[in-house]
Amino acid sequence: MRSARWFAPDDLRSSGHRSRTMQMGYAPEEWAGKPVIAILNTWSDANPCHAHFKHRVEDVKRGILQAGGFPLELPALSLSESYVKPTTMLYRNMLAMEAEELLRSHPVDGAVLMGGCDKTTPGLVMGALSMGLPMIYLPAGPMLRGNFRGEYLGSGSDAWKFWDERRVGAISEKEWVEVEAGIARSYGHCMTMGTASTMTAIAEALGLTLPGASSIPAADSNHIRMSSAVGRRIVEMVWEDLVPAKIVTAAAVGNAVTVAMATGCSTNAVVHLIAMARRAGVDLTLDDLDMAGRTTPVLANIRPTGKTYLMEDFYYAGGLRALMVKLASKLDLSALTVSGVTLGETLEGAKCYNDDVIRSLDNPVYYEGSLAVVKGNLAPTGAVIKPAACDPRFHKHQGPALVFDSYPEMKAAVDDENLDITPDHVMVLRGAGPHGGPGMPEWGMLPIPKALLKQGHRDMLRLSDARMSGTSYGACILHVSPESHVGGPLALLKNGDIVRLDLEARRIDMLVDEDELQRRREAWVKPPEKFGRGYGWMFARHVAQADTGCDFDFLETGFGPTPGEPDI
Ligand code: FES
Ligand code: MG
Repeated sequence: MRSARWFAPDDLRSSGHRSRTMQMGYAPEEWAGKPVIAILNTWSDANPCHAHFKHRVEDVKRGILQAGGFPLELPALSLSESYVKPTTMLYRNMLAMEAEELLRSHPVDGAVLMGGCDKTTPGLVMGALSMGLPMIYLPAGPMLRGNFRGEYLGSGSDAWKFWDERRVGAISEKEWVEVEAGIARSYGHCMTMGTASTMTAIAEALGLTLPGASSIPAADSNHIRMSSAVGRRIVEMVWEDLVPAKIVTAAAVGNAVTVAMATGCSTNAVVHLIAMARRAGVDLTLDDLDMAGRTTPVLANIRPTGKTYLMEDFYYAGGLRALMVKLASKLDLSALTVSGVTLGETLEGAKCYNDDVIRSLDNPVYYEGSLAVVKGNLAPTGAVIKPAACDPRFHKHQGPALVFDSYPEMKAAVDDENLDITPDHVMVLRGAGPHGGPGMPEWGMLPIPKALLKQGHRDMLRLSDARMSGTSYGACILHVSPESHVGGPLALLKNGDIVRLDLEARRIDMLVDEDELQRRREAWVKPPEKFGRGYGWMFARHVAQADTGCDFDFLETGFGPTPGEPDI
């Protein structure tokens, strides 16, 4: 075992490792000859979604000890979606690097990855894929349904919805406090089909979780039992040498893409799926995702793409295993999972208990439209839209652009009741991509201007190089690549230019002739650098554009150390 390099040799350095382990109160027989398991725990006081990880990690340790392993808890960046500014996306790659290097530098043979809040899943998985040790993902689980005056509230989605009502005075300040108190009432990640639920479902579909694990609500005692089972299983995985290279294959990535589409996934899944796939040496492109969006029906009737239900309902209806059974004809059931058996075998016996929550292929929520990729002279390498989550009248639309260069500028305008804007306008925010944001913040669901809200409008076409929260909805074109900050053509758009979306043709264009665009290109001045030092400086030098997953260029290799690299 790898850990034996630290503990076994009869030399002074190894003696130091043994002595320092004894310093913690462990006798040699507690670790000698046993798989040492790293538990990468993203718990912190600043991440409400992972509040229970302080306790769950003890359940994981219990499982590891029962199975004859030796647990080492290693805290990792908690990346709280609730607090981190300017956006957790700036730090996803930092967590990926931390995960990889924690595993590389410590005497460990396998890893349990504890995450759930949006970026923690891709961050941990990317790093652990690159390290290549046996690993298993422990999803935090969704929080309980929100509740406000007898109505279910969904994370994010209902906050946006009710906030618009607040902005027009339909909800009082006092009622709003009740919304705040009711919308997040237990630990666990967002319980809509936002980025967190999408990404943990993807982890399960990749074969990286125990069967059904991603659907278990955080506060359910099944989650505790799943955690100790994870501990037991990782020890066996080390003995079986069940490394991720055997699990995260092209077939598994294909399954993850199909499952993501069937859940009505967050648009963020696009960026993370591509980044994770590339870490595993699988070349997944925006075109592949567009094709999957065209051919995969949405089966999960979960908000915001679905109309009614939340993750708790999904679990009671049979969870992700039941969904995958209904989707079986579109999956590669021979893909291997962390359970040591195929995906098909892990689905045996799974049943759906509510056909309205988990629909079938012949009665889906939508026949297609989880995601679509559009290209054109505004987005040469691609942009993303969620057709199923927007008013169909915007699927073919053209209107004059109203362009904002910064979030504060846009915010002031949308609250101006006299703003000169029509429902046909296309609202544009630029300077919000990976470099511009910086970190590509979730600003893409631009607020509907008050002037239009008062006329009863609740949707309009919006365009940006930002991302949007997985809990968001509406006619929002996102991830425009290349972004404006690096000179992508979005930078050349002016107020009043006509922007045209043709979803059927997968086109997004500005109707400006090439001579004029050339003049604007020559006049364009590159914005100043955002960072003079530190992590941001490194980020700006190495981050890729959204269409290729926003990973750092120097991290995109396959599994494990590169040949010739010193093995620590
Ligand atoms: Fe953590 Fe939404 S805030 S998942
Ligand atoms: Mg989110």
